[in-house]
Amino acid sequence: MKVKNIQTSVIIIFMAFLFLCACEKQQPDATDQIYVGVASYNQSDTFISQMVSCLKEELEELENDGFSVSVTIRDAAGSQRTQDDQVEELIDAGCNVLCVNLVDRSNPSEIIDMARENNVPVIFFNREPVAGDMMQWDRLYYVGANAWQSGMIQGQLAAEAIKENPRIDRNKDGKIQYVILEGEPGHQDAIIRTENAVDTLKNYGIQLEKLSCGIANWNRAQAQNRMSQMISQFQHNIELVLANNDDMALGAIDAYQKSNFTESALPVFFGIDGTDVGLAAVADGTLSATVYNDKEGQAKAMAELAAALVSGKGLDKIEFKKEKYIYLPYTRVTADNVGEYMGDVK
Ligand code: GAL
Ligand code: CA
Repeated sequence: MKVKNIQTSVIIIFMAFLFLCACEKQQPDATDQIYVGVASYNQSDTFISQMVSCLKEELEELENDGFSVSVTIRDAAGSQRTQDDQVEELIDAGCNVLCVNLVDRSNPSEIIDMARENNVPVIFFNREPVAGDMMQWDRLYYVGANAWQSGMIQGQLAAEAIKENPRIDRNKDGKIQYVILEGEPGHQDAIIRTENAVDTLKNYGIQLEKLSCGIANWNRAQAQNRMSQMISQFQHNIELVLANNDDMALGAIDAYQKSNFTESALPVFFGIDGTDVGLAAVADGTLSATVYNDKEGQAKAMAELAAALVSGKGLDKIEFKKEKYIYLPYTRVTADNVGEYMGDVK
C-alpha cells in the first residue's frame, strides 16, 4: 500500500514537472525571431544617421548567431508627437523590442506607457532620459556614452595643442580668447561637454578669456551663421573654437573660409564625434582634433542587449551600470591616429 502511494506521488510530481516545462516553453518572450523597431529623433543629424546605419548592420549581424531579424526604422524629423505615433505603429506591427532615440529626452512617458502595456522592452540611446523616467519600468535600458568624458578629452586635446604651439595665442597676451558652439539646450551632451572642456583647460593651467557662446543645435549651417556673427563682432581676436560636435566645428570652419581669412589669422577648432566628415577634416588638418563617439560600440551593445531581451538568454552576461545603463568610452582622435578610425578600420 505504502509503495503504491509513493509510486502515485512520483508520477504526480513527474507530470507536474512536465507541465511546468511546457509552460516555460510557451513564454511569449522566449523567441529567436527579433523584430526591432528603431525610432530616431532626426535622420538629418549627421552623427545620428551614421549611428542608425551602424545599428542596422549590427542587428542584421545577429542572423549569424541563429536569430531571424527584421529591422524597421522610423525618423521623427524633430517632432515628439510624430515619434509617439511611430512607436505606436511599430508596436502594432509586432515589434518585440524597441530602440528609441527620443526627440524630447524629458518626455518619454507616452512611449514608456505603450511599451509597458504591450510588454515590449525599450533600449533608449544617445538622448538619455532622466533617471526618474528610467525607473518607471524594469524593462527600460539606456545605451550611450558619458558626456563629461567627451568634454574632458576635448579639453585635454586643446590644452596639449596650446602648450605645443605657442602661436595659437596669436596676440601673445598669455590668454586664449575662445568661443563655444553649443548643441541643443537641455541635451546631456551640450552643457556637460562645454563645462568639462573648459574646466579641463583650466586644470591644465591654460588662461582663458571667453568671448562668446552660441547655440547651433548640432547643426553645421546654424553653426556657420553663429560663427559669421562672432567673426564680425570679434574680427581677428578669436584664437580657439570649441564645438560640442564635429558638424558645428565644420560650420565654424565654413564661416572662416567664406570670410577669406589668411591661414595665420585662423583660430584652432576642436570637435566631438568623429563622423566621416569630421575625421576627414582631422586628416586634412582643418580640424585640430576630435573625440570619437563610439557608434560601432554603442550599436553592438544595443544589438546584444536586444537579442538578450527577446530571447531571454544572455542578459546575465551583460555588464550594466545601475542595472540598466551601458556607457561606451570616448577616445581621442588627432592627426597622428586618425588613420585608424577611417575607412574600414573602425
Ligand atoms: C550627440 C552627438 C551630436 C548629435 C546628438 C544628437 O551625442 O555628439 O552630434 O548627434 O548626439 O542627440
Ligand atoms: Ca591671446
